[in-house]
Amino acid sequence: MQYSTYIAILATLLRLTASQKVGTYTTETHPSLSSSKCTSSGCTTQSTKVVLDSNWRWLHTTAANQYTNCYTGSAWNTALCPDPTTCATNCALDGADYSGVYGIASTGTELTLKFVTTGANKNVGSRVYLMENDTKYQMINPLGGEFTFDVDVSNLPCGLNGALYFSGMDADGGAAKYPSNTAGAKYGTGYCDAQCPHDIKFINGEANTLDWTPSSTDANAGSGRYGTCCDEMDIWEANSMATAYTPHPCTSTGQTRCSGTECGDGDNRYGGICDKDGCDFNSYRMGNTGFYGIGKTINTSQKFTVITQFITSDGTANGDLIEIKRKYKQNGVVYENSASTISTVSGNSITDAFCAAQKTAFGDTNDFATKGKLKKMGAAFKNNGGMVLSMSIWDDHAAHMLWLDSSYPLDKSSSTPGVKRGECATTTGVPSEIEASAPNSSVKFSNIKWGALNTTY
Ligand SMILES: *[C@@H]1O[C@H](CO)[C@@H](O)[C@H](O)[C@H]1NC(C)=O
Ligand SMILES: *[C@@H]1O[C@H](CO)[C@@H](O)[C@H](O)[C@H]1NC(C)=O
Ligand SMILES: *[C@@H]1O[C@H](CO)[C@@H](O)[C@H](O)[C@H]1NC(C)=O
Repeated sequence: MQYSTYIAILATLLRLTASQKVGTYTTETHPSLSSSKCTSSGCTTQSTKVVLDSNWRWLHTTAANQYTNCYTGSAWNTALCPDPTTCATNCALDGADYSGVYGIASTGTELTLKFVTTGANKNVGSRVYLMENDTKYQMINPLGGEFTFDVDVSNLPCGLNGALYFSGMDADGGAAKYPSNTAGAKYGTGYCDAQCPHDIKFINGEANTLDWTPSSTDANAGSGRYGTCCDEMDIWEANSMATAYTPHPCTSTGQTRCSGTECGDGDNRYGGICDKDGCDFNSYRMGNTGFYGIGKTINTSQKFTVITQFITSDGTANGDLIEIKRKYKQNGVVYENSASTISTVSGNSITDAFCAAQKTAFGDTNDFATKGKLKKMGAAFKNNGGMVLSMSIWDDHAAHMLWLDSSYPLDKSSSTPGVKRGECATTTGVPSEIEASAPNSSVKFSNIKWGALNTTY
């Protein structure tokens, strides 16, 4: 029983977190986070919840009355996990202590994700998904309408990312397609995104143990032979210094396991299934350096509302996606997104024409066009009746988040068009340093709404 819902008889979580009391082995209890669906006649509240991704969870033997870890730090237990399918049979995911271990708190309407939580073990970052009920992710298709939420990024310094985005996961976490995955959405399984991540411990109901290599910089991560790819719509990647919204289409449909060149790793970045770069709109990068930030037009020292509109060819949820617009609202005032000031790139929204002009102006490869443009991004929302909403807080072991809030890539002058994305120094964002200097950083998401255009704000 991979990911089994086996309930430990002993107070097994003690082995991981000695601060937990005896007898409080963990029943999975999803924090409530209500959301609203809106039409021109008003909004209706829904009793949605969130679930922690399975990768963060304690994975232990299914043997009765035992509590041996299947995975510790960055290593698999080779006795329990000699191969991918045996591991899936031998190991179980456990329930999560959301606030105590992972720093995830909800008031019912507002979710707070804390960066570092220190108990018996140190937890860094988290990722949760919105659920329709305890066994199914909430599927959302905002095409022809809009998606809106409030965010507080005031406690997110350079190098951190408080993200809210859609990914093309299965509504049940892949449980129906891969019966060895008996944990399903209830335990946050089935993640995928356009980076085709290799650090996911179980993919398609099997452990990712083959070729597993511990990370050189992250004591709690490693990467396996397989990656897990799917279309990704980044509504919000941000901290108090910079923000971007970015569609990332893939040529595949739905969650797809990759290996080899199709993962698009290393020098083969543009040879894989997904558009890893995406087509981003970052106000600072597009030339308006006074629009978003501390004390700026959108003052990131205070909470504000983020509105994202998905315009289609025929105005309905069945049409082709042709434009993604952005508005903000703060202290009762609605702000249109800043317009590009780059001479050859016009507009304040994402269209295929904007993407082509921006890639040319900045000398970037237009992999967004190769992988299907906005039409394919829209098709991802129609597949499976919507996409899954993910919210996370993370630091970046690969590129220190410089692609979001600083100058990137480092081998180009910061005066080259498109290189400067925010005011953070190129020396910021080193995970070990932020984890030590700003462990209490956090992001708050609230008032999640979606529905018809101009009905959610
Ligand atoms: C969750 O919702 C789906 C329908 O969307 C339903 O089939 C399923 O039974 C529900 N599960 C629970 C535990 O309520
Ligand atoms: C931004 O918000 C902070 C916190 O509310 C406030 O102290 C500051 O004056 C604001 N800055 C501007 C320029 O409005
Ligand atoms: C983080 O918060 C904890 C508890 O509130 C506090 O003891 C600690 O000093 C804070 N750490 C930093 C670096 O501010």
